Amino acid sequence: MTVHIGAQPGDIAETVLLPGDPYRAKWAADTFLTDVKLVNEVRGMLGFTGMWKGNRVTIHGTGMGMPSLSIYVNELIKDYGAKTLIRIGSCGGMQDSVKVRDVIVAMTATTLSTPSRGIFKEMNFAPCADYSLLRAAADAAEAKGTATHVGGIYSSDVFYDERPDLTEQMTRHGILGVEMEAAELYNLAARHGRRALAVLTVSDHLLTGEALPSEDREKTFGDMVEIALEAAFA
Ligand code: ADE
Repeated sequence: MTVHIGAQPGDIAETVLLPGDPYRAKWAADTFLTDVKLVNEVRGMLGFTGMWKGNRVTIHGTGMGMPSLSIYVNELIKDYGAKTLIRIGSCGGMQDSVKVRDVIVAMTATTLSTPSRGIFKEMNFAPCADYSLLRAAADAAEAKGTATHVGGIYSSDVFYDERPDLTEQMTRHGILGVEMEAAELYNLAARHGRRALAVLTVSDHLLTGEALPSEDREKTFGDMVEIALEAAFA
């Protein structure tokens, strides 16, 4: 057990899918895994371990924002030995070519700041995905026929952004979408020699103001879980 995860040693699989929302973790485990066991519920942050096509997988919530993700991913890596970590979440679209419901496979994650800023100080480290996972996710998405974009995203510290100029600059520099967690996941994976990726569904759009109706969210979330599982075990 760690400070934030109540799992016993061996309860966590080497491959971990990381939705922000703990109830999404439950939904994904119930929908896609067999032999599911609840392995964590400390502070309501649910984690489940089960089997997918003969492979052991944990699906564990991270909460919202990089400080929260950083707590869980540090403990999953350092205390439970997680080796492949894939964020599955939502993002806001930032290009005209990116539509609501599309999937984004995040090659890089630009940030203003992360919990790792204290280590990097004046250095602008470039958080990036594991290439083998990135390629496998792109292949899985193509095979599924899901409209998918591969490129850079922006990991913001705020959902309610008071700096429209920053959003404009990100869009101008080709950033596909904004979310709040991937950059720190990529930093931690780099630091500890693990594989990481973020696969995201576009749930809203910063340029059009469109938002995915809640009844559509389950289907698009399910596509993303399957893409992440295919990529993890490719
Ligand atoms: N996650 C989903 N949509 C988002 C947005 N517009 N900004 C930040 N994170 C998000």
